[in-house]
Amino acid sequence: MCGVVAVIGKQYASQFVVEGLKKLEYRGYDSAGIASLCGGILQTVKSEGKLTNLINNLSQISNANLYSDSKISIGHTRWATHGNISVENAHPLTSENRVAVVHNGIIENYENIKNNLISEGYVFKSQTDTEVLPHLFMKYIKLGNNFLQAGRLVLQEIKGAFAFVAMSLDFPNELFVSRNSSPIAIGLGDKCNFVGSDARSIDHLTQKIIYLEDGDYALVQSNDVEIFNKNEEKANRKIINIKAEIGLVTKGGYKHFMEKEIFEQPVVIPQTISPFMNGISEIKIDLNKFGFKNKNTLLIAAAGTSYYAAMVGKYWIEHIADLPVIIDLASEYRYRKPSIFGQAAMLVISQSGESLDTLMALRHGKELGLITNAIVNVEGSTIDREADFSLHTRAGSEIGVASTKSFTSQLVVLFIIALALGKKFKNFKLSQIQKYSNYIHTLPSAIARMLNMENEIKSVAHNIKNAKSIIFLGRGLLYPLALEGALKLKEISYIHAEGFAAGEMKHGPIALIEDQVPVIMFLVSDGNEDKAISNLQEAFSRGAQIILIADKECIKKAPFAHFKIEIPNFETDFKYFLSPILMAIPAQLLAYHVANERGTDVDQPRNLAKSVTVE
Ligand code: F6R
Repeated sequence: MCGVVAVIGKQYASQFVVEGLKKLEYRGYDSAGIASLCGGILQTVKSEGKLTNLINNLSQISNANLYSDSKISIGHTRWATHGNISVENAHPLTSENRVAVVHNGIIENYENIKNNLISEGYVFKSQTDTEVLPHLFMKYIKLGNNFLQAGRLVLQEIKGAFAFVAMSLDFPNELFVSRNSSPIAIGLGDKCNFVGSDARSIDHLTQKIIYLEDGDYALVQSNDVEIFNKNEEKANRKIINIKAEIGLVTKGGYKHFMEKEIFEQPVVIPQTISPFMNGISEIKIDLNKFGFKNKNTLLIAAAGTSYYAAMVGKYWIEHIADLPVIIDLASEYRYRKPSIFGQAAMLVISQSGESLDTLMALRHGKELGLITNAIVNVEGSTIDREADFSLHTRAGSEIGVASTKSFTSQLVVLFIIALALGKKFKNFKLSQIQKYSNYIHTLPSAIARMLNMENEIKSVAHNIKNAKSIIFLGRGLLYPLALEGALKLKEISYIHAEGFAAGEMKHGPIALIEDQVPVIMFLVSDGNEDKAISNLQEAFSRGAQIILIADKECIKKAPFAHFKIEIPNFETDFKYFLSPILMAIPAQLLAYHVANERGTDVDQPRNLAKSVTVE
């Protein structure tokens, strides 16, 4: 998703902006650009594709002093929404070469504004919604307003979810910054200041960060930052000290970040577990605070992979705590009038803490009177700050667009919540809860054993890499994993893949089975495995290529499977309850190796963004 970076008051500003943009690459983008004030002119350089193209363009432009002379610079990585991928549509967008703006989000009423500006003589060069911003600034500056006044007038005209930074040749020592729903951070330096879409994009410059709140805007100068709230009153926002995450953004010898992140799971899972446990089996979660004083229905909302984690959470919480759980896609929840009958609290799940759909669902739940809790990986993110209570996954930075270690970390937190609720509502015997709590500590070594299956998974990946379409099947706790396996595979390998509940096949999807279509099933013995194997047999009889990833007992029952990948031997209950976490590993490895063999851009797949800050 789009990212913005700005520097004011520091020599080599444009160079530092480019460094910041590199740190935002993980979010996904399709073009990039920067604008700097240099030698009394506004110099804009943009390019399609990766940042290396922008860096090449920068080194070729005639003004060789751009890097050393500029003390004020803004930059952007664009993920196309309005208008195709092109240099014209890349940001910064300018007006009369005197104002430049970089913008994340969408200006919803841009068409009306654009028509008015065209009738006033402004010429539009792009198809973007953003271009109305520099022209509006220009219009108000020409009318005699200073930069702050002009910015205020711009904000009065626009609607939508956005974060933007503007600079002007007429006010060479000022940046105007504004935020509405989309995140933005201001970094404080010594006689210089910085702006970034997230703290990490400017942590090479400062560790002192201020997050703007919704509706805030700021005038940033090299030696001053003035912040105002949506009522135009001066606002004091907390300065947060962040630790620079030096070293975390390297691939550490792996070919891709995704591969590194898959193999980090045995390390990040214990990091996630430890704040929630006292000793071996005592869980430290204050359920009363989270709105679980009484036995109410819990609502969980999330998007994408985080939604599949929510699905698993529903199965666990209903089984272990006998508490009803409703799960909802965040993008659907916010536009409905949901009934909150019997509900006291909601839980949102988000790795980035910035998914706009999930943030809006949280706000919707709050308006409806629910206590809002969040499972979130990025501390200090908007969802983390806005939720009444946060439970952090400590998966560390996840750079690969495909969620891997953050998914298993979310599952671990959900399992811990399910156990805490099970204990509170006395659904299970204490001894049983204790047994399951002990399981949590054996997870890291179990995951490490699952990772040892890599070579077998690689050979399956090699075999299916040219398939046109792949079907994933699962039942019960492993149904969400069929959906997750298909999502992971399609998003990075671009092979069409669908996940189905195995029992649903005969109600329609079985029509998709034709000769040699790979059908992949995750399975552990749970007493119902014979049913799942019958579903697999139905696909086999219609010519599908059957790939079964399962425990020994299930494999014995499906001799017809073309590929049988046996998971390591685990205790029966452990294997059953924690199967979604265990099976996430082959699902991730399979997607990774198929994509790697096909040579796709594994870490930044086409059209996708790491942090989805538009609806
Ligand atoms: C898939 C993936 C996405 C995210 C989704 C929600 O691999 O990563 O489906 O899970 O965009 O993102 P977060 O969890 O950041 O809210």
